[in-house]
Amino acid sequence: MNNLEKFNIEVCNLDAAGIISWALKTFGEKRIALASSFSAEDQVLTNLLLHENPHTRIFTLDTGRHFQETYDVWQKSVEFWNFSFETASADPVELSKLLDNGGPNLFYKNIESRKACCSVRKTNPLKKILSTVDAWIVGLRSEQAVTRTGLSPVEWDQQHNIYRISPLYNWIEIDVFRYSKENALPLSELYLKGFRSIGCAPCSRSVAPFDDIRAGRWWWEEPQHKECGLHNRPKPSPQST
Ligand code: ADX
Ligand code: SF4
Repeated sequence: MNNLEKFNIEVCNLDAAGIISWALKTFGEKRIALASSFSAEDQVLTNLLLHENPHTRIFTLDTGRHFQETYDVWQKSVEFWNFSFETASADPVELSKLLDNGGPNLFYKNIESRKACCSVRKTNPLKKILSTVDAWIVGLRSEQAVTRTGLSPVEWDQQHNIYRISPLYNWIEIDVFRYSKENALPLSELYLKGFRSIGCAPCSRSVAPFDDIRAGRWWWEEPQHKECGLHNRPKPSPQST
């Protein structure tokens, strides 16, 4: 049995808090970090993680294109948990080149341009942070998208050569909002305006209640392309799309 199989057996009967506690013990507080975009999922994880260990690492990628509401909930979170979030942002030289070559709204042109922007603003800064840990914790949930079906609580992240842990893998949307409400967590005002998945402002919009959760992300692209490269997972089979 390899480590990944062993880890998934160890966590299979644990709830989200149990998975977090297992992860901290398995990897150690300095070699694991939570990635937070201040989404409702990430606020749940932040609360569980800080309850377990107030000295743990939580980082956010500041793309420079977030909604004002995201900066507002980030500010509220600093005060709510009295905690310093680590921040990573684009390399200024790479960012200048991107803007010089494509202009500020290049992402609407084609998928290549969109991915170039996501690389500079998100995935390259992410790589730097992840080079300092052996595992990262994320707010992925299986029901979020076709690109996330079959998600396991612990996966090997081939792109970064570390483990990726999804304590909320089997939570549904209502579980997230119930927990947030019970614990009075700070949440983005955008949820009250019809947003169900929040990324950068030019690439996210509100959705109708019956739409897919991620229908408002890069809405001009096909569902199977709606990932920015943070979470490359095995592609869904044609039957599941
Ligand atoms: S994305 O890849 O399409 O942007 P999504 O918004 O669903 O992902 O978020 C999934 C998880 O990725 C979040 O729960 C969080 O762990 C991580 N994540 C997404 N955006 C950021 C960000 N800006 N900073 C840190 N982590 C992020
Ligand atoms: Fe750029 Fe949009 Fe990706 Fe944000 S989500 S990094 S603005 S392409």
